[in-house]
Amino acid sequence: MFEALTALPPDAILKLIGEHRNDPREHKVDLGVGVYRDVHGKTPILSAVKKAERHILDHQQTKAYTGSAGDPVFNETMQDLIFGIDSSASGRITTLQTPGGSGSLRVAAGLILRAKPDATLWVSDPTWNNHVPLLGGAGVRLDTYPYYDAHKKCLRIDALLKTLNKIPSGDLVLLHGCCHNPTGVDPSSDQWRQIADIIVDRGLLPFIDIAYQGLAKGIDEDVQPIRMMAGRVPEMVVSSSCSKNFGLYRDRVGALSILSSDPSSSKIVYSQASQIVRTIYSVPPDHGAAVVSHILRNTELRAEWAAELGDMRDRLKLVRTMLVDALQEHAPAHDFSHIGKANGMFSYLGVSPEQVTRLKSDFGIYMEGFGRINVAGITEQNVAYLAESIARVL
Ligand code: LMR
Repeated sequence: MFEALTALPPDAILKLIGEHRNDPREHKVDLGVGVYRDVHGKTPILSAVKKAERHILDHQQTKAYTGSAGDPVFNETMQDLIFGIDSSASGRITTLQTPGGSGSLRVAAGLILRAKPDATLWVSDPTWNNHVPLLGGAGVRLDTYPYYDAHKKCLRIDALLKTLNKIPSGDLVLLHGCCHNPTGVDPSSDQWRQIADIIVDRGLLPFIDIAYQGLAKGIDEDVQPIRMMAGRVPEMVVSSSCSKNFGLYRDRVGALSILSSDPSSSKIVYSQASQIVRTIYSVPPDHGAAVVSHILRNTELRAEWAAELGDMRDRLKLVRTMLVDALQEHAPAHDFSHIGKANGMFSYLGVSPEQVTRLKSDFGIYMEGFGRINVAGITEQNVAYLAESIARVL
């Protein structure tokens, strides 16, 4: 049977992990996969997470199944974190715990296919390299709207709004809640309002993927677009992840929240989503979600987590400035100021795929093929080498 299959190339981002690991060069630099790194280049386990894990180890009473929607306490806590504890939409939102943000996207895809199989989901050009394989692979019809101006290195807001204005009513629009992956360029509050105006006017359904809450401006600041949208639209889908903001990457913690037009449709959506889960992975993994809900419901641990997340956010801003300054010194003829203005982990460096290949082969500098850099890989020790090497391939 398997002779019918042919080997596929590995995922472009995940492949970089192994390539970097196997590179013997001491001065190699990893700007590839989107994981946070500290000043030592390590991806630490947060102290709040360690404490919550100890608590769970001592107090957890059972490993029996939760249910397809996961732990109701986690779900309520995540809903509050994203929509706000006093959200006027709360009776219309249903939340399910999922295996990471990807699991959430996959369940959302199943729901779209059941509810409106002919609808098109519009994704930004460019978008996270797994959005199209994951959502399109599940069977959702996809199209793109313009997002990034690679020449001016900024948001193509006019083109974006123009395209939104042409999308047929009832279609869905996938928006990145903050820290757009791969560009790091987010709409301003005014631009979000303009986007929401068109979504409301045309009767489009916003689908917001938020994988970096707390890494752009702040925990509450980063979900303002979601809260604003929730106050204006009858229906919305939100996929969220705790991989980055809790550093729980491999524990697979995420949530799918769906805003429905009224509480009774919300119950129907919950039952459908739960049944989709049952037919894919049955029930989500518990450990990471238990850690998150313990942290968020414990005043001291929540404050400790918020402080640790604030440190991560500050470091991402600092290394952006460090790189822009170093590039100004080593490549003064080129403008890299866009890197300093972007949010979260990613920016497009502004180099060609050939230059990306040269940076890897000649200098041991790893980044995604279109020149997406994860700035968390920058340290005081490697920034000069990085800027010098980039200058040499320009
Ligand atoms: C990334 O974009 O690098 C991260 O979201 C990790 C992944 O799964 O691709």
